[in-house]
Amino acid sequence: MDGIIASASSEVEGSSHPPRRAPSCVFVIFGGGGDLTKRLLVPAIYNLACAGLLDDDFSIIAVDWADLSDDVLRAQFNEALQEFVARRGTAATALREDMWTWLSQRITYLRGSFEEASTYATLAERIGSGNAVFYLAVAARFFGSISDRLGESGLVTEANSTFRRVIVEKPFGHDLASAKELNRRLLGVLRERQIYRIDHYLGKETVQNILALRFSNGFFEPLWNRQNIDHVQITAAETVGVERRGRFYESTGALRDMVPNHLMQLLAMTAMEAPVSFDADAVRDEKSKVLKAAHCVGSDDVVRGQYVAGLLHGEDVPAYRDEPDVARDSQTETYVAMKLAVDNWRWAGVPFYLRTGKRLAERRTEIAIHFRHAPYALFRDTPVERLTPNIMTMHIQPTEGVTLQFGAKVPGPTVRLGGVRMKFDYSEWFSDGPSTGYETLIYDCLIGDATLFQRADNIEAGWQVVQPALDWSARPGADPLCAYAAGSSGPVEADALLARDGRHWLALGA
Ligand code: BG6
Repeated sequence: MDGIIASASSEVEGSSHPPRRAPSCVFVIFGGGGDLTKRLLVPAIYNLACAGLLDDDFSIIAVDWADLSDDVLRAQFNEALQEFVARRGTAATALREDMWTWLSQRITYLRGSFEEASTYATLAERIGSGNAVFYLAVAARFFGSISDRLGESGLVTEANSTFRRVIVEKPFGHDLASAKELNRRLLGVLRERQIYRIDHYLGKETVQNILALRFSNGFFEPLWNRQNIDHVQITAAETVGVERRGRFYESTGALRDMVPNHLMQLLAMTAMEAPVSFDADAVRDEKSKVLKAAHCVGSDDVVRGQYVAGLLHGEDVPAYRDEPDVARDSQTETYVAMKLAVDNWRWAGVPFYLRTGKRLAERRTEIAIHFRHAPYALFRDTPVERLTPNIMTMHIQPTEGVTLQFGAKVPGPTVRLGGVRMKFDYSEWFSDGPSTGYETLIYDCLIGDATLFQRADNIEAGWQVVQPALDWSARPGADPLCAYAAGSSGPVEADALLARDGRHWLALGA
């Protein structure tokens, strides 16, 4: 996190040193003709170019099967970029022709199979002896074989102080055993410091801000423990369904798709101890430790749901089982809620409730820290249990910021208490241009900072937490999926999960 995050200077006052330009590098994208490359990677690289963070010797080689030429690929990228700036930009961030010319001259296409040695031989010729990053923007089944081929062809051998790095997309494994196996295979060819396992949640400013908030301010951390916190709610609610990804989603489901990676990152950032420094290994050591302490106590603490047809924002939406490429009797969950315990000195007895799902009432990702009530009913007309709960919410998306909810005196001659909110909104304080969330991740990889990437043990620790839930759901006689209507807040069984502890979820779509 030496990179962009450190330069996101406080506009009030604070430390800031300008980010340095990344070293020269050939950026090879396997899956260079694919959706991820067009929608996110190229716009992110374009933004880095605009910010002056790329070296003049930066170039991109897009590798894919399709029959494309350099010019056709560049035209496709240009179209995607125009869309990107039109969708997210403002007049001031319209596509910069000078930047596009600079970038497009540095993009070439290589048609080839990911499995054949000839593709790698051509790559070796084109890359020469300089620095290179290999981005695996491909289906997960290719991760192992591409890395094997990179190893055999000598492309990841580092010499004369040049670097060779590999960025691996998700899903990283299908369960704990397959994640371990993939780590074993990658580590047979690469050193750990050459592997950058991506979780795009870590590219989100607001996720990075969790650490900034906790560890650069004096007043949160003393309260951040079991003495003061009653429970934590982590929500990643989506309104989208499975879109065109039915085939992928059928064999994945909400639990695998979101929990071991994104939700575990949010949990780890919220619950980890302060690292001794922001050095990549110091941060990742703390994340691993807290994830190793997290676990789901019993099968009653997991609720799996699937959406049936419903009304979302006034429109009829079909049931999951009626989506394209989904089995009519599918048993894949599109929603999961879990209660986790984190067994360490800081968190013993503080439940962490997690929920994520598709086709919910609202798109909202947030972490809500529910503090304990004030201990004593000083205000005679407002009993302790009716005081406004003190909640600190870290909003990840779509709004980005932090709110504090607390009680205040309602103006008037009698003492009456009412709930109020104090809000910090990112967009009001900082005026950054449109971003994809991949800028920081790509830049950090180029400068060799792995803080925002997952180490092998972090990935395995995330899977370790969800593996019992995967096992419980696969055993004969497992609890059936709970139905919820598209556009609702999820299954009632998820409400019951909290109600039995005398708690309730923050409302969705309210
Ligand atoms: C991806 C999942 O990793 O994250 C998708 O595969 C999900 O199913 C997406 O929609 C959510 O990301 P974001 O950034 O929209 O919260």
